[in-house]
Amino acid sequence: MKRVFSSSSDAETRAIGAEIAGLLPAPRLLILSGDLGAGKTTLVKGIVQALQAEDEDAVTSPTFSLVHSYEGWWDGRAVTVLHLDLYRLEDERQVSSLGIHDWMTEDTLILVEWGEKFRLIQELADGSIQIASTGPESRSITVEWNEPNKPA
Ligand SMILES: Nc1ncnc2c1ncn2[C@@H]1O[C@H](COP(=O)(O)OP(=O)(O)OP(=O)(O)O)[C@@H](O)[C@H]1O
Ligand SMILES: [Mg+2]
Repeated sequence: MKRVFSSSSDAETRAIGAEIAGLLPAPRLLILSGDLGAGKTTLVKGIVQALQAEDEDAVTSPTFSLVHSYEGWWDGRAVTVLHLDLYRLEDERQVSSLGIHDWMTEDTLILVEWGEKFRLIQELADGSIQIASTGPESRSITVEWNEPNKPA
């Protein structure tokens, strides 16, 4: 499955995040890619808000902390959203020591900024959200995921 969105503001990117949350077949691991300041964290805010995971203001760019965790709802079931930013990690060994594979359950949505830098994350990912700047405030947002990962 692939969808392409275009955004012309911060608020629109949050709304697209919310829409993506509604389109995803199940909570999985998605890589968020795009340049610094593209809007990856902004889009995560929209996803988190749509899942009623936390007040959106609680989601800030995870500059200091590697993982932010939120408890929300997915079709009436409790879901955990893990938002990771691997920008500061340098090698596969550091990524591997996080033990991300152990966090991957059917009730966990894992969103990984800069995940494309690491082979391990690429292997674990079920899809991606790519954000490209097409102007000062305009963005092209492409979301793709593997259909075989639909819930049974
Ligand atoms: N259409 C847009 N969508 C998202 N953000 C936008 C848009 N237009 C302008 N912005 C601004 O771009 C910035 C995006 O910041 P954000 O932290 O979401 O980026 P990021 O991709 O997570 O960056 P980083 O790689 O540093 O974590 C914000 O300051 C936001 O207001
Ligand atoms: Mg960010």
